[in-house]
Amino acid sequence: MECFKTELDADGILLCTFDVPGKTMNTFTKQALADLQAIAERAKTDAEVKGVVITSGKTTGFCAGADLEEMLGGAWEAKSDPNDPEGALKAGFAAAFEMNRVYRQLETCGKPVAVALNGLALGGGLELALACHYRVLNDGPKTQVGLPEIKIGLFPGGGGSQRLTRLIGAQAALMAMSEGKSFKPKDALSAGIVHEVVPVGQEIEAAKNWIKTKGDPVALWDKKDYKLPGGGPYHPAGAQIFIMANALLRKQSYGNYPAVVNLMRAVYEGLQLPFDSAIKVESRYFVNTLQTPQAKAMIRTFFFSMQQLGKGSGRPAGVEKTDPKQVAVLGAGMMGAGIAYVSAQAGIRVILIDRDQAAADKGKAHCEGLVKKAVSRGKMTQERAQALLDLIVATPDYTQIAGSDLVVEAVFENTELKEKVTKDAEAKLYTGDKAETAIFGTNTSTIPISLLAKASVDASKFIGIHFFSPVDKMMLVEIIRGKETSDETLAKAIDYVLKIRKTPIVVNDARFFYANRCFIPFTAEGLHLWAEGYAPALIDNVGRATGMPRGPLEMMDDVALDLLVKITSETAKAMGDAYVPIPGEKEVAQMVADGRLGRKNGKGFYDYPEAGGNKSLWPGLSDKFTPTITDSTPELAEDIRKRLLYIQAVTAARCFEEGVISDPREADVGSILGWGFAPWSGGIVSLIDAIGTAKFVEELDELTVKYGDRFNPPQLLRDMAAKGETFYGRFGKTDSAKAA
Ligand code: NAI
Repeated sequence: MECFKTELDADGILLCTFDVPGKTMNTFTKQALADLQAIAERAKTDAEVKGVVITSGKTTGFCAGADLEEMLGGAWEAKSDPNDPEGALKAGFAAAFEMNRVYRQLETCGKPVAVALNGLALGGGLELALACHYRVLNDGPKTQVGLPEIKIGLFPGGGGSQRLTRLIGAQAALMAMSEGKSFKPKDALSAGIVHEVVPVGQEIEAAKNWIKTKGDPVALWDKKDYKLPGGGPYHPAGAQIFIMANALLRKQSYGNYPAVVNLMRAVYEGLQLPFDSAIKVESRYFVNTLQTPQAKAMIRTFFFSMQQLGKGSGRPAGVEKTDPKQVAVLGAGMMGAGIAYVSAQAGIRVILIDRDQAAADKGKAHCEGLVKKAVSRGKMTQERAQALLDLIVATPDYTQIAGSDLVVEAVFENTELKEKVTKDAEAKLYTGDKAETAIFGTNTSTIPISLLAKASVDASKFIGIHFFSPVDKMMLVEIIRGKETSDETLAKAIDYVLKIRKTPIVVNDARFFYANRCFIPFTAEGLHLWAEGYAPALIDNVGRATGMPRGPLEMMDDVALDLLVKITSETAKAMGDAYVPIPGEKEVAQMVADGRLGRKNGKGFYDYPEAGGNKSLWPGLSDKFTPTITDSTPELAEDIRKRLLYIQAVTAARCFEEGVISDPREADVGSILGWGFAPWSGGIVSLIDAIGTAKFVEELDELTVKYGDRFNPPQLLRDMAAKGETFYGRFGKTDSAKAA
């Protein structure tokens, strides 16, 4: 046995310690499953074994789930045999069913099996625990259990969808699984997921104690008198649950996620079958889910790519790792204060500078507010909160910049002002003891980095570090290389972003960089639709159904209409004759002039009641454009859906053509973390790859004829279509990216 160590004690209890060699965290591999099967066989056949306790030898917790790379690799390979689709499907099922088969073998070995969860147990880890007859969990601060598979486009396929339902009832289980919710020890106990919560270190003793005193070897659902909590599909109350759940899941997911639909099917059908058949049904739906483009793309983006970018995969090789200890933030406004907060949170000392002491203090007060909220929600201790605030020095004094590892400039979006503060700050930055190694980053959202770099004494040390608002919540940071930015500077900027635990993507200098460049056309397309006479409710409803977090009109309200008007006028100014006005932009400008600024002042496309509650569309909208298309049909909705998603995707393709972005992983992760691009697709580039470049070009050509040149596919897409290339195939930087 490689992954489990076993030890039989004097009471005949076989202690099995899960400890995958060479890994900091346990995951289920084929080998681990084979070992577990051997344990189940020994428990069944060895008379000396009276009971089994399973625990983990890792300090990081029990188990984080299945080893995705290994297990999915097997199932995908099996699927991709075009000569033997039937055999491939069988092989896929066999691979997926293996976990179910082994867990069931353990559950029915005839001896009591308890699990001593010494920390985190997620996915396949919790599914193993659910297959044990008794579950003990410790109350460690990092301990959590849950079935998060849905977050990567899957659903629990190791018996979880069947056992959790039978344990806590269909309603609670469906909610937990469809959200991928994780439970802290106290909540896991009250939800009935575990039997006992004990102090750290006492898990094994408690598990052994249960075996010695009660030791029931029969699972709840294998007992004759078992009744499903809340009732099954044919129970009057149970039937209600499924009617409601169906509607609710549809409302949340708009049918975009095959995993959610298959989860429902597996639960609904599984509950009407004996347990051994139910897990077969689960495995069938699991294989079906795995083979959807959505699951493949979501796993690639949410699991592999995020992990790779989170480790700094875009970092230039050969530059020694750096560890910034002090950052100077220029401008203590909304962005600057947020940047100060996330930096201090990572233990970095922050010099937070504004024009005068009062303005600097206001920025620090914003951090105090954030800290207070975190403490009141139990997410931060008082001591940690104080330590964080102590790291932030609010001051108008530029001399304090000396000794910083980097500057992040976040003053007003004004070129002259930015040039001035760059000069003032660099005069101090490049004289202190970090003079040789320090770098200068700007958080500008629109001004070209290479233009701002002209004010710098050393453009090779000048870079864009573009955060998203609100800084404490948004995980993405766009790092923008200017023409002269050096590899060393890029590496240092990435080191800083990783230290504050955000995900960096590296892009080249171009108007709006990458994220805003792709996102703005989504809102602009909403304006096109509005001006064409589509009812605003229809536009936003279909907008949400695409999987975007909000429809384009409500999204504009959230961003702020005055900001959008400003961006539009600046763009028009910069582009001169080449600028093509967007229908509806004049009407929005008039709304701003009339004091409708968006959500921030409670008046935009929607009216926001002061007392809170639901927003409603502003009746004045129909005076601007009379709605002539108010009813949707599937064809109409599909047309709007395509317009809203494709206008973003074709812009991303242009970004590749122009070299603004070059790594599909960064494009996908950036689209989801930056502006919430339809997560079911796995990201903006995965969407194109799933459609296929040839088909995408064909559809874009049709949209161009109907709606105009903004849909015109760039030459790159035409070339790729002609060669049958995908983005991951042409631009993919790792084998795992290309394989999926
Ligand atoms: P803001 O108006 O909230 O803050 C700007 C701050 O700069 C103010 O506190 C102001 O007093 C200060 N300031 C002005 N002159 C100064 C000087 N000479 N020395 C030191 N401080 C000075 O603006 P916000 O929204 O924080 O934006 C800041 C920068 O971040 C802009 O370049 C903006 O384009 C960019 N940005 C904004 C995002 C947003 O969603 N608001 C998102 C990403 C980037």
